[in-house]
Amino acid sequence: MADPLPKTLSLNVGNLMADRLGGEYGVAPEAIERWQPRAEAALKAVQTTRGQGWLGWMDLPTQPDSLLDDIEETVRTIRDRYDAFVLLGIGGSALGPICVNEALHPLRYNELPRSKRGGPRMYFEDNIDPERMAALRDVVDFNDACFNVITKSGGTAETMSQYLIVRDALAHKPRWQDQMIATTSGTKGLLLDIARIEGLKTFTIPDGVGGRFSELCPVGLLAAAVGGADIRALLKGAADMDARCAIPDLWKNPALLEAVLMGIASAEMGRNIHVMMPYADSLRLVADWFVQLWAESLGKRESRAGSIVNAGQTPVKALGVTDQHSQLQLYSEGPFDKVVTMIKVESFRDETLIPAAPDSYPDDVKFLGGLTHGRLIEAERFGTEYALTSALRMNQTITLPEVNEYTLGQLLYFFEMTTAYMGELLDVDAFNQPGVEASKIATYAKLGHPSGKYAAARAELAAAPEEKARYII
Ligand code: PA5
Repeated sequence: MADPLPKTLSLNVGNLMADRLGGEYGVAPEAIERWQPRAEAALKAVQTTRGQGWLGWMDLPTQPDSLLDDIEETVRTIRDRYDAFVLLGIGGSALGPICVNEALHPLRYNELPRSKRGGPRMYFEDNIDPERMAALRDVVDFNDACFNVITKSGGTAETMSQYLIVRDALAHKPRWQDQMIATTSGTKGLLLDIARIEGLKTFTIPDGVGGRFSELCPVGLLAAAVGGADIRALLKGAADMDARCAIPDLWKNPALLEAVLMGIASAEMGRNIHVMMPYADSLRLVADWFVQLWAESLGKRESRAGSIVNAGQTPVKALGVTDQHSQLQLYSEGPFDKVVTMIKVESFRDETLIPAAPDSYPDDVKFLGGLTHGRLIEAERFGTEYALTSALRMNQTITLPEVNEYTLGQLLYFFEMTTAYMGELLDVDAFNQPGVEASKIATYAKLGHPSGKYAAARAELAAAPEEKARYII
């Protein structure tokens, strides 16, 4: 019988190296040797404390069958009963589900007839644009939808505001609670309290699993399974990548090698921008997910000991081929401050043959006839790689044999492990986000939140002189 889990992800870092780009533009072997002791320390720090503290997400690839059974059981009802599944969440409580959904579904999934979808249409509400709820209600009958409200902290204003709107819309029904699933901490938080008051079905985000590392817990697994994904294969992919990323040999451990190379590129070579450029529409939102993971985890003012480091490589999302016609000019001729990571898919789930053009057409169009879009997109990705390398720009390629649950599980877990190692190498706490607190506090103070927690900020805002519109013309 054929292997049901096709092949593994590979990482080609050749175009980051000095032997390809020259000493000034690529990573020299001596630099890697210099970083070797740090890499060993990073590996040890992560692997000896795996599962503990904020490394709780490292246990996710091997979650108990009982949890997966519960998810699958719940999902059977959702898939049978509802026309739409709506996820309410933001940041780490939305980006993982959004990217997995996009990766594993046919590209026009929601527009397919029910018979082809086999499950509900999927909506991910991760913003509070005032037009958005109305737009959702234009296309989703709330009476025929299942809602999954997700917040780890339990009190995120954006998410809880959406919850209140949906609750209000459903409250006329005697058992509206059957349509609402809460995914939150198992021990504390406002959503947990509310779920208990209302008697909602809940799924738990384990302690030690931060938002942006939560895709492989019920945050992402429920939505993935509602969409028909094989969540066990997703976890198997992550588990297999976990094993690879624990190998002590730097050259066999993809996440550790990647972290070392990005550490050198950013800390020693000024490559402070990291462009993530999948060459597949299905992986477009993997770039969005990566952007949050990389930015929120590694963009830190202080080292763990408290010195000012202002660390972090700025992640940028791009899409091949589309952004060749938008961003590539900058990447090949602008400042030498970037690493471009391309994600290549070897075999697409569908193929499009380009038909022969009429004989009377110009040769420059006729040559396309008989090619496929698969060949064309890979030739274009190759062209980008070639052009960037010729222009001495650091670039690398991650290859997925195909996009499926198993390879996606590997890919996401690879990025998570790379981030954890990178945090160690940069000596920053990859699992907090103090930089977003100030904005949250100012928001709540501005809204007059009654808690004493915001009293100082309220007073500060009240005392601030009114902004003069000096620069508005
Ligand atoms: O990665 C993180 O921790 C954040 O992006 C959170 O996921 C985001 O702020 C939403 O938080 P919560 O799940 O508590 O609503």
